[in-house]
Amino acid sequence: MVEDSLSPAAITGGLSTRFIGQEVICYPSLTSTNDAAKRRAKAGAKEGTVIVAEEQTAGKGRIKRRWLSPRGSIALSIILYPKLSYLPRLIMVASLAVASSIERVTNLKAQIKWPNDVLINGKKICGILIESDVRGSRVDYAVIGIGLNVNINLADFPEIAPTATSLSHELGRNVSRREMVRSLLAEAERLYLALPEGEAVFRQWRDRLVTLGQKVQVSSGEATYKGVAESVASDGSLLLRLPDGNLLKIVAGDVTLRQ
Ligand code: BTN
Repeated sequence: MVEDSLSPAAITGGLSTRFIGQEVICYPSLTSTNDAAKRRAKAGAKEGTVIVAEEQTAGKGRIKRRWLSPRGSIALSIILYPKLSYLPRLIMVASLAVASSIERVTNLKAQIKWPNDVLINGKKICGILIESDVRGSRVDYAVIGIGLNVNINLADFPEIAPTATSLSHELGRNVSRREMVRSLLAEAERLYLALPEGEAVFRQWRDRLVTLGQKVQVSSGEATYKGVAESVASDGSLLLRLPDGNLLKIVAGDVTLRQ
């Protein structure tokens, strides 16, 4: 029987981090852990405080999408107070922490699709939503929201089944969410603390992107572009080689890999 408790004690007990996950607040059900984390951050929560929900009733995705997070999945948000220059790197910290934790806990091979979707065998297993409040050159707070499909039977969710997967689906057995969360928090802190060291986190993220070198379609705002995903800049932007030979820098968007 897999240990599957997500109580604060189960997550923090013996967790060898300095601050991420040393304070954990768990809810049986929440609209969105990101919304709860933002409220806590505004009220002065300690850096590294984590909000966890067994299920979300109005989970938020990127680009105003909905995020499905039923029981059996992981939905959590981490409160941080980074320097402004680190803000674009939080997507790198989060997606690398998820990918390496999946590999460490399950041995499955995880890939990152620009900017921060984590895939297994080409299907989405995790979504990341970073929200922040910036005043001038000061970041009031940043929240890293992570939704990971752990023990989910995809047959129960036909709306996502064609493009999504879960750890239990890939492995044919349940996985300890507790072990996943603890690994995720430890990895996130290790990578976050490495940000002052320069480009190392950026390079690891770039080297894991499954997108680079591929023919892609990118939707960014109202526009759609087709081209080859040539590279990424150190601020996380995608550099897309267009059919006319020009290079386009895309700061935010959604990528579909073309066969
Ligand atoms: C995406 O791929 O569109 C991002 C999905 C992010 C979902 C997570 S689940 C925890 C946190 N709370 C939310 O409401 N959203 C994020």
